Amino acid sequence: MTGRLEGKVAFITGAARGQGRAHAVKLASEGADIIAVDIAGPLPLVPYDSPTMADVDETVRLVEELDRRILFEQCDTRDLEKMRAFVDASVANLGRLDVVVGNAGICIPATWDETTPDMFQTTMDINVVGTWNTVMVGAPHLVTAGGGSIILTSSYAGKKMQPFMVHYTASKHAVTGMTRAFAAELGKHNIRVNSVHPGAVNTPMGSGDMIAAITHTNESNPRSPAWEPRSSPPTPPRPRTSRTPWPSSPPTTRVSSRPNT
Ligand SMILES: NC(=O)c1ccc[n+]([C@@H]2O[C@H](COP(=O)([O-])OP(=O)(O)OC[C@H]3O[C@@H](n4cnc5c(N)ncnc54)[C@H](O)[C@@H]3O)[C@@H](O)[C@H]2O)c1
Repeated sequence: MTGRLEGKVAFITGAARGQGRAHAVKLASEGADIIAVDIAGPLPLVPYDSPTMADVDETVRLVEELDRRILFEQCDTRDLEKMRAFVDASVANLGRLDVVVGNAGICIPATWDETTPDMFQTTMDINVVGTWNTVMVGAPHLVTAGGGSIILTSSYAGKKMQPFMVHYTASKHAVTGMTRAFAAELGKHNIRVNSVHPGAVNTPMGSGDMIAAITHTNESNPRSPAWEPRSSPPTPPRPRTSRTPWPSSPPTTRVSSRPNT
């Protein structure tokens, strides 16, 4: 712990578990107080287990164990006005906002011809509109503060394609584009906007029937496997042949988006 964020406040979506919880704990360990939201209930259409309020309790416990404050609201990132009201009230309570982490997202494996309009719309609503909502409620406070940092969770599927989830790949490319576009406009307020692009990460997104769903999609074209169903949750993908679409070492990379202007 270096105290790099001593006196700062970070707003994180999808903080109940997985990467969102890890971000909350890491930022708190660096000194930040946390404003957090999560749907913390049934996730639409996904084959993996949904988070619960018990997951939220664990995130809260871990942050408070670090002697940091955390304010949590059970909120769907698709609900712009509810999220705005909570963030505005939390910033008034904690005094400032410095960091926004748009992490909440869902993933529904399906081959292109099994993908329903509901799957496509829901994925775009959460992964794209929900992420846009996150920036829209957080960025005004960073402007007021005179600067800050926005980090949006895309995916490696936001740089290259991921087979058997056209909707997910489309949504994560949209997050990448959104990052660049926000950076171009927010740079003049000393706000950095970056996206992160994880490969497969061992989180509850790989629980429940996720492996079975991925196995099912992989069977439609064994030459283009998505995650390999070796274990649950999924292990990082490994290319089987030089023709497989996965990178040889799935990285966690950032699209640097510091604007030129
Ligand atoms: N796990 C992976 O392999 C992987 C790889 C690349 C990118 N990602 C991305 O990383 C991010 C975090 O995923 P994770 O692996 O921690 O999965 P996860 O399912 O464990 O965590 C995601 C969290 O987001 C919350 N969430 C989802 N939709 C929401 C909504 N509409 N409103 C509020 N909260 C919502 C969930 O409740 C959950 O707590 C996601 O955007 C995901 O697409 C994950």
